[in-house]
Amino acid sequence: MEFSTKCIAPGLTRTGCTIVGIFDSRKLSVPAAALDRAAKGYLAKVVKSGDMDGRAGSVLMLHHVPHTACERVLLVGLGPEKSFDEKAFRNAVGAALRAVNATGATDADLHLTALPAGKSDTAWRITQSAALAIESTYRFEQMKSKRETPAKALKRLLLAYANSGERKAAERGLEQGIALGHGVSFAKDLGNLPGNVCTPAYLAGQARELAKRHRLKIKVLETADMKKLGMGSLLSVARGSAEPPKLIVLEYQGGKKNQKPIALVGKGVTFDTGGTSLKPAAEMDEMKYDMSGAGSVLGTLKAIAEMRLPINVVGIIPATENMPGSRATKPGDIVTSMSGQTIEILNTDAEGRLILCDALTYAERYEPSAVIDIATLTGACVIALGHVVSGLFANDDPLAHDVLAAGETVQDRAWHLPLHDEYQDQLKSNFADFANIGGRPAGAVTAACFLARFTKKFKWVHLDVAGTAWKSGKEKGSTGRPVPLLTQFLIDRAKHL
Ligand code: BES
Ligand code: MN
Ligand code: ZN
Repeated sequence: MEFSTKCIAPGLTRTGCTIVGIFDSRKLSVPAAALDRAAKGYLAKVVKSGDMDGRAGSVLMLHHVPHTACERVLLVGLGPEKSFDEKAFRNAVGAALRAVNATGATDADLHLTALPAGKSDTAWRITQSAALAIESTYRFEQMKSKRETPAKALKRLLLAYANSGERKAAERGLEQGIALGHGVSFAKDLGNLPGNVCTPAYLAGQARELAKRHRLKIKVLETADMKKLGMGSLLSVARGSAEPPKLIVLEYQGGKKNQKPIALVGKGVTFDTGGTSLKPAAEMDEMKYDMSGAGSVLGTLKAIAEMRLPINVVGIIPATENMPGSRATKPGDIVTSMSGQTIEILNTDAEGRLILCDALTYAERYEPSAVIDIATLTGACVIALGHVVSGLFANDDPLAHDVLAAGETVQDRAWHLPLHDEYQDQLKSNFADFANIGGRPAGAVTAACFLARFTKKFKWVHLDVAGTAWKSGKEKGSTGRPVPLLTQFLIDRAKHL
């Protein structure tokens, strides 16, 4: 999609669709009122007729509005003016994009960006709109022999702003929005690819391409390297598979050389059968998304590299399949992690924590200022929180606060769950230092407790995205979450360095 940003009044350009907002109680927003003056009161008449009452989410498409240069005018309901905040803004833009994409219009001018919304500034509104526009036209068609969806979709979008003095901010906002959109699309593509294409080697190849394009440092550790480092836990998960595991390490250096990096650690199980503790057959196909944590790390690195964000970030991705097989790990097997701690593997389906723990220990060598791991870790988290918010666990409250706030800003929300020591008792083992499962109660918490035993040396947040990284059912597919949250967190961090 082609984007531009301009300080312009609505209705003056020859566009396929001019988009303006109406508050409920039928009040025209400032750009809508300007367009109405050009149209000699036509919009006010339409609104008065009752066809558009300004309710949030409602839309009305008008054709050939008199005295305007555009083919269509889309009126978008904004809801109450008093509560028109960031969330309402994103919802309105989303509704507008859906309506435009459903018509034959291939270009549009969005004037909602010129409206104040909550505490947002122009740059933020433009960033969010550009990213939403890219999301609205995302299709995953690379595995189809023929294109299914007609090519009828938005191709050019102009994002308007209100004051000529905002040009620089608007352009920077647009640049960031496009980068975020690309990062989210990249994460979605990786998630949507099937397990027979998106293998650990494929993830490593994608990481290499990303590194080449954006001059990131990259290292891919092979089985022999992991053995040398003593990563017995990670290797125990890969044992049942013919696909060799990879530990992918990417370094983005946008900040000063001596500035400590943020580490992002992403679970990269490219297919999770459960291993010897085999999963039931129904919906097992969805376990191709079990590398979504890894996908979000790659998507976020793509976004911040395209933004040229002034910050240092290291991405660490343990990538493997979890398969049954004659050499596969068996329940009761005991392995030694890189940290030296021994683990009794009571269930081979609790494999995410087994690969993450060695990746987290590996992260220590970067002396990170903070570590965030992202993992489709537990079904229990889906039961607890559903598909709305990601589960968040932390050993540092200020860091947790910053991550939660970033999620709030971009409506990619997370919810803080407990990590009290009492839960650690559930991991007791009679034979090793601890077990890899803690029984049915509080399954998402005990998984986080397991990881907490490997994160004592740094400030750490764990995001369980099992419920948020993809959608099941009719709209089955990767959501690209939590790339928006992670990217916003890094944008905010970069401001305070
Ligand atoms: N990848 C799964 C978690 C998962 C389950 C994500 C369902 C999305 C939907 C993870 O590896 C897993 O299998 N976890 C087990 C842990 C259990 C054996 C303690 C689970 O949640 O059932
Ligand atoms: Mn599993
Ligand atoms: Zn898994």
